[in-house]
Amino acid sequence: MNDRPDAAGLAPAAGDGPPTAGWVVFGAGGHARSVVDVLERLGASVVAVVGDAGGRAWPVDVLEDEDAGIERVVTEGLHAVVAIGSSEARLAVLGRLRTAAQRARTAAAAPSTESGAEVPSSVQNVPARSAQSTGGGDEVAPAVVAATATVAVGVELGPGTVVLEHAHVGPGSRLGAGVIVNTGAIVEHDCVVGEGSHVAPGAVLLGAARIGARSFVGSGARILPGVALGAGVTVGAGAVVTRSAPDGQTMVGVPARSAHQRLGRGTSQ
Ligand SMILES: CC(C)(COP(=O)(O)OP(=O)(O)OC[C@H]1O[C@@H](n2cnc3c(N)ncnc32)[C@H](O)[C@@H]1OP(=O)(O)O)[C@@H](O)C(=O)NCCC(=O)NCCS
Repeated sequence: MNDRPDAAGLAPAAGDGPPTAGWVVFGAGGHARSVVDVLERLGASVVAVVGDAGGRAWPVDVLEDEDAGIERVVTEGLHAVVAIGSSEARLAVLGRLRTAAQRARTAAAAPSTESGAEVPSSVQNVPARSAQSTGGGDEVAPAVVAATATVAVGVELGPGTVVLEHAHVGPGSRLGAGVIVNTGAIVEHDCVVGEGSHVAPGAVLLGAARIGARSFVGSGARILPGVALGAGVTVGAGAVVTRSAPDGQTMVGVPARSAHQRLGRGTSQ
């Protein structure tokens, strides 16, 4: 059985943006492996990974030097996805990529007003016609939505955001740049997920939940409807978060409490 989607279905219709070009994946660890698989199942061609492979064999070029990777993306007109677990590192590489791509565009022939070569919007809409998309527009790091993921019509996905296999993003939700919605995670309707945040495998944000930038929701955790978490929040695996929490808090347990309260001390994260 061929369970790969038809690669022809990946090329956005004329006017939607570039066809699926080669991709460079920044990161060479476990998350990068998942992201490469997502791209391959979409029929995209991964030409290189960038990072310390730690002895792992990759069937594509491995570039250890990040600058070399960025150079290759820009000079060869490739797409990039940043598959690095650390929010800070992910956003930093994403920022460098976008800056380099913007400089390259500026240095190229003067853009015509019709060319679409202007600085891209920080947010892009998933095409209504397909939830299996590698994004569009001239963004160097378009959002990537796995073949088996579902993203509601009109959802806003920031550049560099990845939605992995079997995940779901409901209508009215807004996700910033560099967000990870990991395998089987659910971001229900009308949620807001700040840039660089990570919703780990099987975690659930129920309706109208909000999480600030660079937050982490551990595997299997549940954020109840309407709960608002600040920036840099860590939610432990399996927690059920019933109350809003401020920036920097680590929440664990059922019902979730700050790690300090629940354990009588902090945790390292
Ligand atoms: C909450 C978390 C961030 C804390 O990490 P940490 O600071 O390294 O914590 P430690 O492992 O040192 O554990 C410290 C204490 O917290 C407890 N603890 C850790 N995680 C917990 C959790 N999810 N729920 C309840 N208690 C937890 C530990 O049992 C330990 O208590 P003890 O000393 O009484 O045994 C981490 O355990 C966690 O849940 N991470 C999520 C992992 C995940 O989902 N990864 C997905 C990757 S894609």
